[in-house]
Amino acid sequence: MRTCLKAMNVSLENKANSAVAAIRSSTKGVAVVVLTLLVLVVFISTHWIDGTTLTTISSKNEQVLSSHPRKPQSKPIILACGNQTTPVCQRSLSPSPSPSAISSVPQSSPSCPDYFRWVHEDLRPWKSTGITEEMVGRARKFATFRLVVLAGRVYVERYRRPFQTRDVFTLWGVLQLVSRYPGRVPDLDLMFNCDDTPVVKLADHRSSQPPPLFRYCKDDRTLDIVFPDWSFWGWAELNIKPWETLANDLKQRNQRVKWRDRKPYAYWKGNPWVSDSRRDLIKCNVSKHHDWKARLYDQNWDREIKQGFRNSNLANQCDHRYKIYIEGRAWSVSQKYILACDSPAFFVKTHFHDFFSRALIPGLHFWPIREDDKCRSIRFAVDWGNEHQQEAQEMGRAGSSFVQEELKMDYVYDYMLHLLTEYAKLLRYEPAVPEKATELCSESMACPATGLVKEFLMEVDGEVDARRRAVRDASTLRSGGVPSGAGEES
Ligand SMILES: *[C@@H]1O[C@H](CO)[C@@H](O)[C@H](O)[C@H]1NC(C)=O
Ligand SMILES: *[C@@H]1O[C@H](CO)[C@@H](O)[C@H](O)[C@H]1NC(C)=O
Repeated sequence: MRTCLKAMNVSLENKANSAVAAIRSSTKGVAVVVLTLLVLVVFISTHWIDGTTLTTISSKNEQVLSSHPRKPQSKPIILACGNQTTPVCQRSLSPSPSPSAISSVPQSSPSCPDYFRWVHEDLRPWKSTGITEEMVGRARKFATFRLVVLAGRVYVERYRRPFQTRDVFTLWGVLQLVSRYPGRVPDLDLMFNCDDTPVVKLADHRSSQPPPLFRYCKDDRTLDIVFPDWSFWGWAELNIKPWETLANDLKQRNQRVKWRDRKPYAYWKGNPWVSDSRRDLIKCNVSKHHDWKARLYDQNWDREIKQGFRNSNLANQCDHRYKIYIEGRAWSVSQKYILACDSPAFFVKTHFHDFFSRALIPGLHFWPIREDDKCRSIRFAVDWGNEHQQEAQEMGRAGSSFVQEELKMDYVYDYMLHLLTEYAKLLRYEPAVPEKATELCSESMACPATGLVKEFLMEVDGEVDARRRAVRDASTLRSGGVPSGAGEES
């Protein structure tokens, strides 16, 4: 049975936020920041990192979704690729939803992570009006694809090419969801954009209904609806494995170098050229003249791709005591990897959130870094951590346990189901298959795939039911002809 670690208590959260607000609004310079952080830290160490608080169950938990009457279904999926160029979906594999399955929600279910409550916040703009076909139609101009689920079958109409394979892995996640919860994913019709930056501006829709548009992140000035990003199922271009696999790698790797034996600096590796803030961060790198206690590296993806990713293994990046997170064009998928190291994460003030990051509490899961005084703020945090190793390690562990426990794939799927269920309830029309849509199924997606894309798709698929899966694949999944699934249980 799944349990849900409750790491959040609303009133404490508010206190933390006000402390951070104080840090932000402080114009009196470092002294005030230092003082505020010290107060914050003392507060944390006495109140939060405390087993009893962490396991408190709040009555406000979302119950809807944890309506797991039984464990997520993991019936074997048979990939019958055959030798056709366009494999045919095995229709019999997609059961129709039965209304009774949806309404028989048991009341005694385990609670979901706290970030589930944001589902309601994201859908609030349509709460009283519902979502009409006209509103969805207005989202089309932004959309990468339109997703329709009807009677448990998944249809997609593509409007434009997204960056890399974001759409493939996102849609694969939707297929996995439908196969995990047969009969539970409601009929729906939605527009999805795979780019970084949210576009549905709050300011433009104060008196009109905004178009409902799904994407991976939003900020306080936008109304986009957040959905788990593609990286949970894999990022083939950068050799970033599906989250479940990678989270395990990170867990193992974490244990190899004890926190005290790690380099006592703040580490960051990434592409500095995507935002002003990242360029500004690079100025804090160690030099002949300064040591701000930051060790910053330029991740040159072109070079890494050519060299087979030898130097970019995320699981090997847990060898510093502190890790810096900084947004790029918008939020960055690196956040969960950075948090997973058991090293306190330093978040340079964030503006964007994805579906889970809104549950992260400054001072508990991460240390906030000033955006306008990065170098001094980083050096202060490193010095503090090195002088307060117990507290620093507790913060590192709180961040890691958040991503390892509350961000398990089970919950990611549950969040998707919850969000899609609530979204579908708002629809004021019967979704229909768009004229130019095609049906998606495991065969139509996985059979034609090649290389790492195929490997990751099969790996994710394998996670659901590795043991019971029988892969029958006439076209052979791997070049060597080894059926996938057999070698993927390690
Ligand atoms: C696969 O190809 C063989 C010969 O090329 C053909 O006889 C067979 O019918 C094909 N099978 C399918 C499922 O298309
Ligand atoms: C930061 O400094 C280190 C040590 O001198 C150097 O190896 C690294 O390339 C520098 N990083 C950047 C982004 O310039």
